[in-house]
Amino acid sequence: MTSRFDEVIDRIGTHSAKWDKMESLFGVSPDGGLPMWVADMDFRPPACVQEALQKMLDHGVYGYFGDDVAYLDAIGWWMKERHGWEVDPASVFTTHGLVNGTGLCIDAYTAPGDGVVLFTPVYHAFHRVIRSAGREVVECPLVLRDGRYEMDFDAYDAMMTGKERLVVLCSPHNPGGRVWSRAELKGVAEFAKRHDLILVSDEIHHDLVMPGQKHLPMALADDGVSERLVMMTASTKTFNIAGAHTGNVIIADPDLRARFAERMGGLGISPNSFGLHMATAAYSPEGAAWVDELTAYLDGNRRVFDEMVNAIPGLRSMPLEATYLAWVDFAGTGMSAEEFTARVETEARIAANQGPAFGQGGESFLRFNFATPRARVEEAGARLQKAFADLQ
Ligand SMILES: Cc1ncc(COP(=O)(O)O)c(C=O)c1O
Repeated sequence: MTSRFDEVIDRIGTHSAKWDKMESLFGVSPDGGLPMWVADMDFRPPACVQEALQKMLDHGVYGYFGDDVAYLDAIGWWMKERHGWEVDPASVFTTHGLVNGTGLCIDAYTAPGDGVVLFTPVYHAFHRVIRSAGREVVECPLVLRDGRYEMDFDAYDAMMTGKERLVVLCSPHNPGGRVWSRAELKGVAEFAKRHDLILVSDEIHHDLVMPGQKHLPMALADDGVSERLVMMTASTKTFNIAGAHTGNVIIADPDLRARFAERMGGLGISPNSFGLHMATAAYSPEGAAWVDELTAYLDGNRRVFDEMVNAIPGLRSMPLEATYLAWVDFAGTGMSAEEFTARVETEARIAANQGPAFGQGGESFLRFNFATPRARVEEAGARLQKAFADLQ
């Protein structure tokens, strides 16, 4: 049975970072190469999103956005319907994406020299944003147990120096694709309380969970956490509209909200009208049905990719509970990172993210984005098998 996601769409020359920057960043030509790095998908969003944009084009005047009632209603509907979470519209800020939201939290709640805790390996941009602001990254390494990541709060408690002010959680986790359990989320909330940390929960991958998995918003995981919690979500990853740079920062606590509002106002950040029109349309029953179809397709891609990669001796793809980002450990090959990366880039002609960018624990890994038509995933698997054929 074919799927709408099987359609191969040519993105070369469309100002796509994923395709049009792969040669300069990885030395892999888009002509024959496979971009499996940055987290955007090679799929069109649902028709409701395209129609919302078409309506804007037909009207043809692109002034400042105003009146976000429909947008806030759509967010409220989505969070309740998909995540069982009631969101107060007054608690929602619209930022230029969630990296922007993270930077604003760091500015609003910490001072230069303060420590910001990350559970590593974790999404690489967090490190950059923290360091660029003159704050210190405090890496709390995740523990690999039975092939998946877990947390070790006794070890993290022992690492705290009193300089830490904020912790950023990635939930579901990128990379490694963990859907954190209620007990693990409670553990993070209690850790934040013990060390008096603001807890920023980046839940951008919350809709992209594999069939049978259930994401729990941090706001629902612990009764007392709201006084220190900043929730971050976005329609952009879910619906592949990341170029719209529109994120939701949701803050229930009035004091935290006021401090965030002041920083945002100081930088003159106001909404991107294209992003808001698209997100309003996406957070709908039609969008929900599309996401269900998408996650089933991604699960199929995951199975194909994992089966082909795990057949190569020495390679192991972490079993994902969420995201479309396979996290592959090359440690068993005995090769250096330079050697296995060179084989992937020059022999397989695949651009994949290098593990060390994600912090401690990422050294022997590459991250592969498989949100692309199945035929390309099969091609990637075959190329990797060929590039490492001497290990068979
Ligand atoms: C955990 C996480 N946060 C944020 C982002 C990027 O968010 P934005 O495009 O909204 O800045 C990504 C992109 O992959 C991500 O994985």
